[in-house]
Amino acid sequence: MSALQPGVNVHDQLHAHLKNLPTLQQLFVEDPTRATRDCLQLGPLTIDLSKQRLTQKIYQLLAELAEQKNLRAQIAAMFSGQQCNFSESRQVLHGLLRTPSEAVPENLQAARAAMAAVFARMQEMCTAIHSGRAAELGLVQPKTIVNIGIGGSDLGPRLVVDALSAARVAGISAAGAAELDVRFITNVDAHATEALLARLDPASTLFIVVSKSFATHETKLNAERARAWLEAYYSNAADQTDALQARKNTARHFLCVSSNVSAAQAFGIDPALVLAMSETVGGRYSLWSSVGLVIALAIGWPQFQALLDGAHFADLNYRDAEFAENISVRLAMTEYFNREVLGYASRCVVPYDDRLAKLADFLQQLEMESNGKCVAADGSAISHQTVPVVWGGVGTNVQHAFFQAIHQGTQVVPVDFIGVQHPDHDLQLHHQVLLANLLAQSAALLRGKAFAEAYAETQHSDPDTRDKIARQRVFPGNRPSTMFLLERITPYSLGVLLAVLENKTHALSVLWGVNAFDQWGVELGKVLANALLPAIQSGDRARAQEFDSSTQNLLKLLLPGVKSRGSGVADK
Ligand code: F6P
Repeated sequence: MSALQPGVNVHDQLHAHLKNLPTLQQLFVEDPTRATRDCLQLGPLTIDLSKQRLTQKIYQLLAELAEQKNLRAQIAAMFSGQQCNFSESRQVLHGLLRTPSEAVPENLQAARAAMAAVFARMQEMCTAIHSGRAAELGLVQPKTIVNIGIGGSDLGPRLVVDALSAARVAGISAAGAAELDVRFITNVDAHATEALLARLDPASTLFIVVSKSFATHETKLNAERARAWLEAYYSNAADQTDALQARKNTARHFLCVSSNVSAAQAFGIDPALVLAMSETVGGRYSLWSSVGLVIALAIGWPQFQALLDGAHFADLNYRDAEFAENISVRLAMTEYFNREVLGYASRCVVPYDDRLAKLADFLQQLEMESNGKCVAADGSAISHQTVPVVWGGVGTNVQHAFFQAIHQGTQVVPVDFIGVQHPDHDLQLHHQVLLANLLAQSAALLRGKAFAEAYAETQHSDPDTRDKIARQRVFPGNRPSTMFLLERITPYSLGVLLAVLENKTHALSVLWGVNAFDQWGVELGKVLANALLPAIQSGDRARAQEFDSSTQNLLKLLLPGVKSRGSGVADK
């Protein structure tokens, strides 16, 4: 039966629930089944939504909203290869990367075959490198792999390589993979690049230049720096290699991943060493593609395949499950309610596992680049809220940093806790302390501390002072959180987790009415940086005359040869 009151819009009905919305504590008292009913299981992943302030009635209204927004049809459209990226007229096929070939629909078989061909080459590369036969590919045999890329060409691979580092140490990864030292160069800030290069041996370093567009300034500049570093090494070699030979030797240190193969070739990378990338896979959804080459090199091909299998398992839940059992949809509904109805402006992501330290960074791009929009996919202005600010850090570290504000600050910040049941080390006590803290934080956010309790534990001879201090020791409680539990961090379970979160991002984009697959908002800054660069390079401020006066003033402070105001040095 419909939860909807006839003639009243869903949105208004959701907001109407605010007036008498029970606190979390009341919700648990009113419904003893809540803890188990709202705790969902998807293979190795448990997601406990019971500490979110949604009632059954609210879920029903959100399901109505999802129906009205055609969420079911939109999910089907994405998986069946329709052009869901409307503004760029592209299909959205990252799900196809992880679909086993026997399950690919007829109309996508050609696209899947092209992906399979790239995977076959990727596997060939991994096998050759892991078995000491890199020379067969025309490459040096690496001891160190350096991934050069930014945004989606960095964050996903970096998260996964970090997360599976223990698997590498534990020898779960393929033979030859664990011995590779895997590094990342991202920022155009040369402090990081130079610090890393200074520690590497050029002779055994292999760079993977990853750029879907091969037009990203940061990545191209870092790739050029890596090339110059290698050429200098070969030019200075004892045998006085000539410039041409130095260039040839240098070429043996580069692999590339890009959908712009000609630009990679123009850069000097042999097309046979460029792994193609489909335009239908967005950068922030691309760790499953050839962008994951560094992952496959770090953990081995079978483990990379297990990552894809886990993601496919999560896709099946998103594609086929009813909303009540659909983990990504339930997460999306929860966030919609928190953002739109309860008005929470940010969400904090706190893994209690150092191996997932990069999760918040990854989700920032995934969610905020996908859904940080104020114009709908049909071009109309959006009158409601869209993506919250996503931020976070690792537990327990953050308990000693920003958790004060999470517990007692004036803003309510829903928290996503992520815990791992079984560690990959033998220090049981460490893990027990970690788990105790994980559970304690979410329980504290729920329960809070009433004044009477705070007063009873406050010691002071002056009643007035005692009262004042006790008030400051009150915790409001009633602060929502979601608990994600992984049995263990494996390639498969990580695949499940990350795909669930990708799919949640898609579901939210449908509820909010935005296109999750374009990112026009990143373009203006790039254009303006290009316009400012000539002024900075030449030291001629006149070349930035069209800029606002604040930018002009800052340029004056920054330009070479011009010291800061009051330094006594004349402004040229
Ligand atoms: O600037 C944003 C962005 O386009 C992201 O969407 C993308 O992941 C990143 O830059 C890197 O792009 P590329 O892989 O083309 O270098």
